[in-house]
Amino acid sequence: MTRDLCWLRKVASHSFQHFSLPAYDLVARSIRREVGTLLNLTTEVASEGDLAFSLVTEECLGREGYRVKGEQNHVAIQSNTTKGLLYGLFALYEKLILGEAFTSFTSVPDQALRMINHWDNMDGTIERGYAGDSIFFKDNEFRKDYQLIESYARLLASVGINAISINNVNVRGAAKALICEEHFGELRLIDEILGSYGIKLYLSVNFAAPKAIGGLETADPLAKEVIAFWQEKIDALYRYIPDFGGFVVKADSEGEPGPFAYGRGHDDGANLFGRLLQPHGGHLVWRCFVYNHQQNWRDRSIDRAKAAYDHFMPLDGKFVENVSLQIKLGPLDFQVREPISPLLSGLRKTNHIIEFQLTQEYTGHQKAVYYQLPVWKEALDFDCRNEDVPGQVKELLKNTSPQPAYSGICAVGVVGMSENWTGHKLMQINLYGYGKLCWNNQLTTQDCAQRWIGLTFDLAEDQTKKLADLLVTSRETYGMYTAPRGVGFMVTPGTHDGPNIDGYEYDRWGTYHFADHLGIGNDRTTSGTDYVSQYAPAIRDYFNDLTTCPDELLLWFHHVPYTHRLHNGKTLIQDIYDTHFEGVKRVEDYQAVWEEIGPHVDQNSYQNVKELLQWQRELAVEWRDQINTYFWRKSGIADQAGRKVYP
Ligand code: GCU
Repeated sequence: MTRDLCWLRKVASHSFQHFSLPAYDLVARSIRREVGTLLNLTTEVASEGDLAFSLVTEECLGREGYRVKGEQNHVAIQSNTTKGLLYGLFALYEKLILGEAFTSFTSVPDQALRMINHWDNMDGTIERGYAGDSIFFKDNEFRKDYQLIESYARLLASVGINAISINNVNVRGAAKALICEEHFGELRLIDEILGSYGIKLYLSVNFAAPKAIGGLETADPLAKEVIAFWQEKIDALYRYIPDFGGFVVKADSEGEPGPFAYGRGHDDGANLFGRLLQPHGGHLVWRCFVYNHQQNWRDRSIDRAKAAYDHFMPLDGKFVENVSLQIKLGPLDFQVREPISPLLSGLRKTNHIIEFQLTQEYTGHQKAVYYQLPVWKEALDFDCRNEDVPGQVKELLKNTSPQPAYSGICAVGVVGMSENWTGHKLMQINLYGYGKLCWNNQLTTQDCAQRWIGLTFDLAEDQTKKLADLLVTSRETYGMYTAPRGVGFMVTPGTHDGPNIDGYEYDRWGTYHFADHLGIGNDRTTSGTDYVSQYAPAIRDYFNDLTTCPDELLLWFHHVPYTHRLHNGKTLIQDIYDTHFEGVKRVEDYQAVWEEIGPHVDQNSYQNVKELLQWQRELAVEWRDQINTYFWRKSGIADQAGRKVYP
């Protein structure tokens, strides 16, 4: 299968042959190969001698930063580390391809940890994966396609990703034994490939492994035999793979085992691993996606959105120094619109990482256009208005983590065996943009879109602009024709792929919209579940007050009548009709834009996007008609514009 080279399409692919060499040599070789190709790209850089790499000692560049200096026909890349040289090379590559003039530029990453969590199972499937099977595993074995892994590592390094965990956080079946010696040989090969590109390898582990594979009767994190079990596994792992990154753990969540079963806290659970990993320089990532998934829908006082804060705020400061808490950006689960998780603004004494989702679980299954930079920027730029430590989330991540090296950003992975990696050609932008934004938090959604298009296609300026507009508006569009105004979760239970308005309404998952004949929405105000009080006072008041709560999150925070008037001047019911008709119209406009642009890109990409836009339109119509009809029937209030609804 010929693999799409994505935004690196102008650098020739090369096969991976040297994985037994030390990482330093690999990086140097990799750099030289890339340079060779780059030299052909520009007449200004005429020969290999005109491009120099040097290791320097400069505090301001840190362990990953670089400086690129261009003087007449000579370009020099400097860094404190070989990894920094590689990043510098990729930055130079971008500038050359995009035709940007430069004399000298220096860059250091804004976030220390820039990670991807793969949800790949050892049988080859990917939980919530829509771009084909796993590139790492197949039939309960390693897939052993090292060339593919190297190509992936190269893509990741080109945008600055420096860590990945390769298996699902729900560690089931054969994956429970990934921490056993029989797999260390394969893991070491993968680690060497990734390491050559400056990427640390992590594994997700099952909290109950001492029982599942160790023959013990308990997984109690304070039990001596459990500690001995993990000690033996971790020490053995590091003997084979000395630069192994560490573990990711999902515990006491959605049926996964955890410390609660033994009356222990999540600090006990996480610190068990933290302490054992510490002597090896390892890192433990502990997920905060912990909530009661057996909720009684009849009990309106329980609010799943409060769970992460309720569980973890009392533990702030109780974790050892190489433990990080990983927190989903919103308090529920990657909906089109969610407010920032209050835990991200609350923690002061614990390392933490914000979690995004590259794969489009609730947002179109890699079949709809859904450019996510607007979502992530909204989260990172959110000003928490804390009185003690002021600042936006992107600043708090490092400023309120005691060990900033263990803070940063993580995202659930997206790639699979699909020839174009992400299933939908245009959604490569999310992988590219994710890395770039983690590195440079100031990157704008427009700039990122323009750059990705420039690197990926050869389009005229007006075509680039049209495609960039399509991408930049796509998240808003998706939000328009799906669940209204932040209410979320009107999706098919289980698969999460299409409309099912009451699908979760009388279920145990704690995700309700509470629509009746008078109104809709979650009352999370001080007179409702009081979720809103988990924020700093200024933010609490902002969301609590109907006059200041933004329209986008209205139904997240408030239960209002259909006749409630939004800030945009419309009644809620009329806004529902208008946005749903507008959403479908926008998708139709996207189809027209693609028909204009498509013939100027390669045939595979043209067909791929054309077919998926057709699919997106059909599903958008289904969403529109179900939502509009549902609310007409509930409210008895007709669309003022008299458009087609099915009462
Ligand atoms: C969602 C998703 C699950 C996943 C979970 C998680 O609930 O549907 O498939 O396991 O998130 O983040 O752990």
